[in-house]
Amino acid sequence: MGLKVQQVSQGQAARLAKLHQSCFQQSWSVAEFSRLLENQAVIGLMYLEDDRDIGLALLQSIAGETEILIFGIIPTRRGKGFGYGLLSGICDYAGTIDSKAIFLEVSNNNPAGINLYKGYGFEQVGLRKKYYADRSDALIYRLKLIKS
Ligand SMILES: CC(C)(COP(=O)(O)OP(=O)(O)OC[C@H]1O[C@@H](n2cnc3c(N)ncnc32)[C@H](O)[C@@H]1OP(=O)(O)O)[C@@H](O)C(=O)NCCC(=O)NCCS
Repeated sequence: MGLKVQQVSQGQAARLAKLHQSCFQQSWSVAEFSRLLENQAVIGLMYLEDDRDIGLALLQSIAGETEILIFGIIPTRRGKGFGYGLLSGICDYAGTIDSKAIFLEVSNNNPAGINLYKGYGFEQVGLRKKYYADRSDALIYRLKLIKS
């Protein structure tokens, strides 16, 4: 089985939009992904299993910290460790640009996301009450990156 994490160019925004649609109930358009990728601080990553797109991440890196804006694995490939695999790819990428930490926000209504991040070693560093449209709280998680 061949697994790889690949950086996406702006011209591949349609692949990200398709993955996003299969991972989330609401989806963003190709134009929205294309516009986001215009920003030098934003990076799109795709996770491939034997050349099939199975996951995506959208990252924004500013002032030595990398924020995960979007993270998902397609439903048919969940529960197999691929979430951890993609997080590992994000850490590798963040290391190449000398990020000191990775952070993200996740809803307190998302046990799969919370367990994934906690299981990987992220620690909760903040809380935004009723932050999301469904009135759920946003939990802020952070992972410090240690240079080897
Ligand atoms: C959250 C998500 C990325 C997890 O991906 P995944 O490939 O299934 O995760 P993994 O198989 O690597 O599992 C990693 C850990 O996540 C947790 N986890 C995964 N699925 C879970 C579920 N359905 N319920 C509870 N915990 C779950 C477990 O702790 C698991 O570790 P363990 O197997 O050692 O117990 C995936 O469910 C997804 O894409 N969900 C929709 C999008 C989303 O919610 N993204 C995160 C928003 S910030």
